[in-house]
Amino acid sequence: MTVKTLADLLDEGVEGRHVLVRSDFNVPLNDAGEITDPGRITASLPTLQALVDADAKVIVMAHLGRPKGEVNSRYSLAPVAEALSDALGQYVALAGDVVGEDAHERANGLTEGDVLLIENVRFDARETSKDEAERGEFADQLAALAADNGAFVSDGFGVVHRAQASVYDIAKRLPAYAGKLVEKEITVLDRTATDPELPYVVVLGGSKVSDKLGVIEALAGKADKLIIGGGMCYTFLAAQGYNTQKSLLQEEMIDTCRDLLSRFGDRIVLPVDLVAAAEFSADAENRVVALDGIPEGWLSPDIGPESVKQFAEVLSDARTVFWNGPMGVFEMEPFSKGTEGVAKAIIDATANGAFSVVGGGDSAASVRVLGLDEDGFSHISTGGGASLEFLEGKELPGVTVLGA
Ligand code: 3PG
Repeated sequence: MTVKTLADLLDEGVEGRHVLVRSDFNVPLNDAGEITDPGRITASLPTLQALVDADAKVIVMAHLGRPKGEVNSRYSLAPVAEALSDALGQYVALAGDVVGEDAHERANGLTEGDVLLIENVRFDARETSKDEAERGEFADQLAALAADNGAFVSDGFGVVHRAQASVYDIAKRLPAYAGKLVEKEITVLDRTATDPELPYVVVLGGSKVSDKLGVIEALAGKADKLIIGGGMCYTFLAAQGYNTQKSLLQEEMIDTCRDLLSRFGDRIVLPVDLVAAAEFSADAENRVVALDGIPEGWLSPDIGPESVKQFAEVLSDARTVFWNGPMGVFEMEPFSKGTEGVAKAIIDATANGAFSVVGGGDSAASVRVLGLDEDGFSHISTGGGASLEFLEGKELPGVTVLGA
């Protein structure tokens, strides 16, 4: 599919034109409301800077969390506006509303090279509505911010799998272009989806098997090995008959895991030891145990050191690696070793010539939070769900619409 890109828009000329950009600023915040991983903000800069340099009047749309159509200060984009101002080195104003009077006044008042961020688009229930007419009405109001001769740039790769007003419907209302981030992500992910160099090793973690079912089905036939750790591995271990005690478990998925093991057992690589903890807390008593050794009433928040060793062995001769999902509760230091060890093994594989992609979300955050070398990977995607859906071969509405 050919889509118009930012380069095309810049060729057409944007000086003095309003350009609406959809970015993905769904960044993690701590309890104090501070951004703990600005990766998505950093990734948005090339497109925004190019538009600023070309003297466009830039209006950025984004969501934060899932405020369910209601204004909620907890999900305000205020911390993002501040971080974006710092990153761009120029003041980015935050409108007090989404498509209300303030957003309109500020959009009208922009001068060349200015950047305006409107409030969280999900403060308006029409953004995520299943009703196309409702979404369309909201998209009309968003498009109106761009006045005559406006344009739309889709740059929020993390959200292109959502058919939402600011991602999808807006692209039918304004001349639409793929931003630099969306273009880069698609090109890179395509390299792992189409004809990956073998051996191809996929590492999956994260809490829910149900979220990864599609990708397991889609990749089991393509990948040489599927390493499974993190919260989702306990349902597989339960399917093998282990008592996982109070570890994360999706009971309703045990049969599905059993079925996956019977079909792809030669490719699926599970942990061989675990870290067990008396409770879900960084201070809890903990120790390394065998798969059948989680003490009664304890839980496992991480894979064990022997598992890391075996996973690293599998990764050592990989030529292509895709990793999505942490191996344990990396946010708590005692349970971060599994994720750190596997990430380092992927970095080593990359140094040996493998093409490695970190698939967004928590795994991308873990690389930065654990202070690992981001340049050690070939690509760190900004899209969790979006990169998984792409690899599953699903259509991404926010990309398809650009080719329409
Ligand atoms: C993400 O964090 O994966 C994207 O920003 C999409 O967010 P959503 O899952 O709430 O649609």
